[in-house]
Amino acid sequence: MSNRIRTFEEYKKEYQFSVEKPEEFWAEKASHFTWKKKWDKVLDWNFEKGESKWFIGGKLNITENCLDRHLATRGNQVAAIWEPNEINDKEIKLTYKELHSKVCQFANVLKSKGVKKGDRVCLYMPMVPELMIALLACARIGAVHSVVFAGFSASALADRINDSEMTIVVTSDGSYRGAKAIGVKKIVDEAIVNCPAVKNVIVLKRTGEEQKMVAGRDTWWHDEIAKVNDQCAAEEMDSEDPLFILYTSGSTGKPKGVLHTIGGYMVYVDYSFRNVFQTEENSIYWCTADIGWITGHSYLTYGPLLSGSTTIVFEGVPTYPDSGRFWQVIDKHKVTHFYTAPTAIRSLMGFGLDPLKPYKLDSLKVLGSVGEPINEEAWHWYNDNIGKGKCPIVDTWWQTETGGILISPLAGITPTKPSYATLPLPGVQPILVDSEGNELKGNGVEGNLCIKFPWPSIIRTTYGDHERCIQTYFSTYKNMYFTGDGCKRDEEGYYRILGRVDDVINVSGHRMGTAEVESAINEHDFVIESAVVGYPHDIKGQGIYAFVICDKKGKTDEVLRTEITAVVNKIIGPIAKPDKIQIVSGLPKTRSGKIMRRILRKIAEGDVSNLGDTSTLLDPAVVDEIVNGALVALKS
Ligand code: WT7
Repeated sequence: MSNRIRTFEEYKKEYQFSVEKPEEFWAEKASHFTWKKKWDKVLDWNFEKGESKWFIGGKLNITENCLDRHLATRGNQVAAIWEPNEINDKEIKLTYKELHSKVCQFANVLKSKGVKKGDRVCLYMPMVPELMIALLACARIGAVHSVVFAGFSASALADRINDSEMTIVVTSDGSYRGAKAIGVKKIVDEAIVNCPAVKNVIVLKRTGEEQKMVAGRDTWWHDEIAKVNDQCAAEEMDSEDPLFILYTSGSTGKPKGVLHTIGGYMVYVDYSFRNVFQTEENSIYWCTADIGWITGHSYLTYGPLLSGSTTIVFEGVPTYPDSGRFWQVIDKHKVTHFYTAPTAIRSLMGFGLDPLKPYKLDSLKVLGSVGEPINEEAWHWYNDNIGKGKCPIVDTWWQTETGGILISPLAGITPTKPSYATLPLPGVQPILVDSEGNELKGNGVEGNLCIKFPWPSIIRTTYGDHERCIQTYFSTYKNMYFTGDGCKRDEEGYYRILGRVDDVINVSGHRMGTAEVESAINEHDFVIESAVVGYPHDIKGQGIYAFVICDKKGKTDEVLRTEITAVVNKIIGPIAKPDKIQIVSGLPKTRSGKIMRRILRKIAEGDVSNLGDTSTLLDPAVVDEIVNGALVALKS
């Protein structure tokens, strides 16, 4: 099945057709899959109600398309390569046949625990093949997987488990990341104290660390799979049945469960994967994202497997045993397609070129970037030193809510331009609007990025609260999906993403709501109020800067900072740890009590020369105090 654009001309034609006849266009793309029953209608949508339905009435199982469909033609081809944390440990290769067998086997385990179609299953695991197996096993029986990134704290995990009423957790005893071994099961234990609905915990043995197993609740993965066989028919699912929930941050304190459904997600992820990355029959594709994020769902698991590729699951970190690890893995497995985040590139740039010297990197054909804008310096370093000037870089713009890549070059087919995501994929209709929602027509314009027509993998709802879905994405501008990103369309019509325009910051390619960090900080007993903003950070893209009012009760700022950091670690996890905490006596507020974040952002950026008119503030003197304190904090 080729189903792939081969020239820039073809792209233009296909794009045009997709806008003129979207239903015909997507029906043809969907026709390449195995459906148990064909759909009755391609699309129904109403953005005012936040509704999009695709391939209505169609029946299918996504795992038949990821696995069974390939068995006759490439059953013995490697589907997944697991590269462990330790450089000298042996990799594991699973063929499509083996992966199919393991998925069916674990699907039977889930069934034996009473998991049924529609039930939500929590996966809280490190990057091991069993995470991919468990995820597909859920899809096999029609259960809804919800992976929680294993860096989240017990309290963040419990919130997610409770929000979508999950009754079973699949986890591991521990995990290895770089030189550290981390206890994973003990975080689950701590979380479950607050999750009365959880009845079963299945534990994979990874580190061998001694475990307290709760009788009647906790069982070992290896014991469970020994009790079942590897035959499991794929459950017949409706195209619009849920496939997974993935939590993401927004501008309120509470993360939302983004829900994707089966048919549309499958068709879009497959189509975008093939076209953006242009993989071939013998490609070895490596996406370095964790399966706990949307990138790991769409372009480490589903996309590569749907298209019959070989995908790498990497357990380790880029700097262990040394900062040449990525390059070592590329040479070892002869990786052809490499997809990573700008933050990783910037951090590896910092080690200079020596770590690259032992490696050839001559298997590489295509490079990708995702998660945040890639600055020109990092783009050129990636292009020159990793791609050796011969690998197109696809800068892929998308979101948890979009399910798949919406704006990106197609590798080697459409032009690239440093720091530009360039052009929309066929089927995607971007529009730039001003703050009133007026369309900014023509080229050479800058505004808020919206999408004016649905695509198959668009968010269906935020779990348990559809009103919130409408409010967040479909009500800012009438009849449009609002992305939350600012964007420029240059003179040639190429798109450049400028970053978030809401109270969301992007830390190392991970989305973090300022309100979420604030509410964690406010859990510290001495904290009265806090305000969090992003500021430019050399490696992370954006860092987290917290201005905090405390009743100090004699504690030093230093002690308070340490304690506040510990509270954030406990409530959310290390990924939300503030880079700077400044203890202040007040915050700049308007007379109506609204915090002037614009002023705080400027101070955090170190740009204090032009703070605008502060005379209308409730207490203008507080600004001088904060500026003076910030100059000290920024030096540290
Ligand atoms: C936000 C979505 C999509 C998977 C990883 C992040 C930013 C994402 C790019 C890019 C500039 C980007 C946007 C977006 N973003 N990709 N290529 N260039 N910005 O998923 O956590 O849902 O975050 O990440 O601001 O809105 P996410």
